[in-house]
Amino acid sequence: MNTIQIKDKRFTVSIKEEEILKEVSRVADEINRDLAGKNPLFLSVLNGSFMFTADLMKRITIPCEISFVKLASYQGVSSTGAVKEVIGINEDLSGRTVVIVEDIVDTGLTMQRLLDTLGTRGPKEIHIATLLVKPEKLKVDLNIEYAAMRIPNDFIVGYGLDYDGFGRNYKDIYTVVNE
Ligand code: IMP
Repeated sequence: MNTIQIKDKRFTVSIKEEEILKEVSRVADEINRDLAGKNPLFLSVLNGSFMFTADLMKRITIPCEISFVKLASYQGVSSTGAVKEVIGINEDLSGRTVVIVEDIVDTGLTMQRLLDTLGTRGPKEIHIATLLVKPEKLKVDLNIEYAAMRIPNDFIVGYGLDYDGFGRNYKDIYTVVNE
């Protein structure tokens, strides 16, 4: 399936599952190496990171915990600039090594908001793991230590990412076709 239609937009496959999993494995290896002995708490940001989180966590071999938070910042294809926290963080983060697991860092505003929120809860350190980064769109200075892939500034769906709620289920990543 090289082309898919979601509502008014057409998308073509741009990153196949095999390539995604290769990069996810690389990131998992880096985390296993860097955070050994730290019992990290992975905080997965729903909904977009559910597939990345599952594939990443299957490859994490060090003792760790995992929990989920939920935020919303997007309506359709353009950022509203407004970042809303929908489900909060319930864990005790004091003294913990926290790893935020995100689907994509676009402007970085969502990530900045998360860092600010988590930072008030006394963690020892916070690391960022993201499936994708759009470096051209970054508006804030973030230390993104674990990024599976860097992509151009095009709208994508699949592997957890959506267009208006649809497209999260595809195993490959698709890029919008500008007609
Ligand atoms: P940021 O706050 O601008 O960095 O936006 C981050 C959020 O926007 C991500 O967690 C995604 O939910 C969403 N997002 C950004 N780019 C895309 C995209 O190309 N496709 C689908 N969702 C995206």
